[in-house]
Amino acid sequence: SEPRLKEMFADDFLIGAAVNPRTIETQEELLAYHFNSITAENEMKFVSVHPAEDTYTFEDADRLAAFARKHGMKMRGHTLVWHNQTTDWLFEDKNGGLVDKATLYERLKSHTDTVVKRYKDDIYAWDVVNEVIADEGAELLRPSKWLDIAGPDFISKAFEYAHEADPSALLFYNDYNESHPNKRDKIYTLVKSLLDQGTPVHGVGLQAHWNLYDPDLDDIRAAIEKYASLGLQLQLTELDVSMFRFDDRRKDLTEAPEELLEAQAKRYEAMFGILKEYRDYITSVTFWGAADDYTWLDNFPVRGRKNWPFLFDERHQPKPAFHRLVERAVKA
Ligand code: G3I
Repeated sequence: SEPRLKEMFADDFLIGAAVNPRTIETQEELLAYHFNSITAENEMKFVSVHPAEDTYTFEDADRLAAFARKHGMKMRGHTLVWHNQTTDWLFEDKNGGLVDKATLYERLKSHTDTVVKRYKDDIYAWDVVNEVIADEGAELLRPSKWLDIAGPDFISKAFEYAHEADPSALLFYNDYNESHPNKRDKIYTLVKSLLDQGTPVHGVGLQAHWNLYDPDLDDIRAAIEKYASLGLQLQLTELDVSMFRFDDRRKDLTEAPEELLEAQAKRYEAMFGILKEYRDYITSVTFWGAADDYTWLDNFPVRGRKNWPFLFDERHQPKPAFHRLVERAVKA
């Protein structure tokens, strides 16, 4: 039987997977064998747990937390403040206009308190604020209702409320395109200013939605070094390696061609080489899924285009990329 990922990297970092109520059943054996951390793919997001002001719905989130307990896995919390998958009521007053800042903060505090306290024995690290940096241009922050109503200090407030709710949780700022130089510098600027204000932020989450071609390995390395220079721990929070360039929308492949599987193996080998070099800073590497039978990339950026981003295939068997990591580990 094959070596376990979590044992291969036991001296380096945790090995995580995003899960949902379906995959904890369809992928249970694979998850239990290779992974020692999970993240809820959608089930702890605002819209999932808090659909109306007086209504919390924790059934799915609770099942995932129970799965982590059953298998002795760590759990990351995802996510408290985001522009996406957040319910409209949060930002609205009774007349359907935008709520005032004080009310928004009361609601954020009450949400954070309820959710973070509920899972304080299960979740050791939270993505407190997700994706607030603007992708393009010189603007630091992405436009959002959070920003419209509260101005930029909703970010530090979110961390303060999370810290009050669970002083022992590790609190992360999490974002994508984190290795692109322009966005990297903006993420650094934001987190540095939070630290300078004394905000309780403990880590940077690099989502790591990568592909066979992008980002450059040098840019990955430079991003890790820049974030590590903040003195914080780093986690890869949503790793996948798409077979397609970001702007490639072709739908003609129905199975993964040999040469792409081989290119993916090389890519994973090089990436994990870098991650191991920085093991003093990187404490966890979470994939945004576990095996190729289920990935959000099957519906992004083109609905219904199959992708094969993981180390395990659609039947949960090891792919060339997995074997390459094993060979590497044996040599090291
Ligand atoms: O729940 C509804 C269901 O009722 C409906 O029938 C179905 C029809 O499309 O949609 C379901 O909602 C989908 C939801 O996932 C739950 O499956 C949404 O359409 C779909 O947009 C949503 O996608 C999620 C996406 O976040 C939303 O932004 C992905 O599963 C999830 O993997 C993805 O995760 C994000 C991270 O949270 C943050 N970083 C980027 C990452 C990838 O986009």
